[in-house]
Order: sequence, then C-alpha cells, then structure tokens
Amino acid sequence: MTNVTVGRQVTGAIATHLPPCESATYKVVAMLNRRQFFGAFAASAALYSVCRAEAVVGGVPRNLDTWGQGLADLNRDLAAGRIPLTEWQNRMMALDSGIDLGDLRRYLDFDRLTAAMTFPDKLAQTADPKLPRTININGIERHWFIRFFGMRRGGAVIPHVHNNMVSAHLVIEGQFHARTFDREADMQDPVGDFVLLRPTLDAQLAPGQMITMSDDRDNGHWLVAEADRSFTFDVGVVALSKTRSYTLPANKYSMIFVDPTADAQDGYGLIRAPVVSFEDCAAKFAA
Ligand SMILES: [Fe+2]
Repeated sequence: MTNVTVGRQVTGAIATHLPPCESATYKVVAMLNRRQFFGAFAASAALYSVCRAEAVVGGVPRNLDTWGQGLADLNRDLAAGRIPLTEWQNRMMALDSGIDLGDLRRYLDFDRLTAAMTFPDKLAQTADPKLPRTININGIERHWFIRFFGMRRGGAVIPHVHNNMVSAHLVIEGQFHARTFDREADMQDPVGDFVLLRPTLDAQLAPGQMITMSDDRDNGHWLVAEADRSFTFDVGVVALSKTRSYTLPANKYSMIFVDPTADAQDGYGLIRAPVVSFEDCAAKFAA
C-alpha cells in the first residue's frame, strides 16, 4: 500500500500491484508515427498558423502562461540540479493539479495536433505541442520534451523502467489502467537479467489524473487505454546527471523493457521482472 497523488486529487492507500514519455516505447512509437504526423502537419501548417493566431487573439487564459512558465522553470531547476528528483515529481503534480483541461487543450492546440490519429494498432501515436514563444525556456541544460500520447482502447505504453530521467503523464482524454513500480534492484543472471519491482499503484486514471516517475520513485510504469482515443500529456527531462547508477544499461531512449506479470516473487513482495526486448514486450502487451 502506498499513498499516491494523482492529478487533481490525492488517493490515499491505493491497493498495489502495477511506462513517452516520453521512453523507449514512446520514442520508438514516435518514430513509427512521425511520417504520418509530418504528412498531416505539412498539410495543415498554414491552417495551424491561423488557428494559433486566432487562439491568441481570442484570449488564451493568462493562467496558462503562468502554468507554461512554471513548467519551464521547474525543468530548469531540475536540469541544473537545484531540486531533488522527487521534488520535481511533487511540483509537477502540483502544477497540473486543478488545471482546466479544456484550457490546456486549447493552449497546446491538442485537437488539431491529434485529429489525424487513427490508431491502426495498439501502439501509441504521438504529437509534440509547443509552448508559446513568450515562455522563457532558456538555460534548460538537459534535453526535455512535452508530448501527447494517444492510443485506442486496449492500446498500451508497454511496461518499462527508466535510467536517469523523469516524466509526468497527465490523462487528458479517455481513461487508462495505470500501474507503477519502484525499482528496487537490478539483477544480472546467466539465465536472463531481471529487475526487482515493488508495486506502487494499480488504478484507473481519468482525465485530470496523473502519474510521475523518476530514479527515486515509481521508476517503472505500464499504461493500458480503457477507452477509444485515450490521451496523456507528458513532460519529460532526460540525460539527468547520474543521481543513481544502474547495473543494467538502458537503450538510447533511457528505457529498459520488463515483464512485470511474471509469477516469480522474491518472498518479500517484490516482482522478479525479466528484462525483455522491445519486440517481445510489444508482442505480449500491445498485440
Ligand atoms: Fe516511460
């Protein structure tokens, strides 16, 4: 059992069991779908300019600029090492808490950016919104991103852990079954490497609710969409200084795919989750 803060509300003592970031899946999926997006993007680039201008003229709420600047400032503080990882998680949840999702969608041009998504398979499609130029993003010395992840019912962000990054995942439409895990240890084994995971959350997330991850808390995650056109809005900061070193190396997207459904337990409530390839993980969890 653990206390978990999700978006607008705090849910205490959620029963436990258990990834686009931002993330391996995220990035792989992003690559898989980039061509589709660029096609749609090119076709609507002129329209986008008009819509964006109208949105600004029409009055994007001032508090969304405050939110956007707060997001940039938070990432700058983390990238510079001025705050601990878990403080970034807490402040991200506070930043997104109570935000009007309709305003956020308009502010980030959500409807236009995601309109072309058709979800031919169970992997996520992605789109990257942009903050207005008035938001000062100078001096964020690590790579960071903001990104929409969309999928159909049954689609998944397949289970994985991360090395040296943080991310936040705010449900913006639809519903997800979210499972998160603390990563207790990396184990190298001649038969196959595995990670010891402690379940920290097993819950349905509705719009406005969110999860976060870092090296220090809820490092593993796995999301399954429970409604057609389910979307998260993600924020991530990668290539963080090595606040924690890991036995197992991640791929170039800071991800390690695991299978948290394995029966093996260590006797102390930890899941012995084998490290698996992206292909095997996708075949099992997003087929
Ligand atoms: Fe992830």
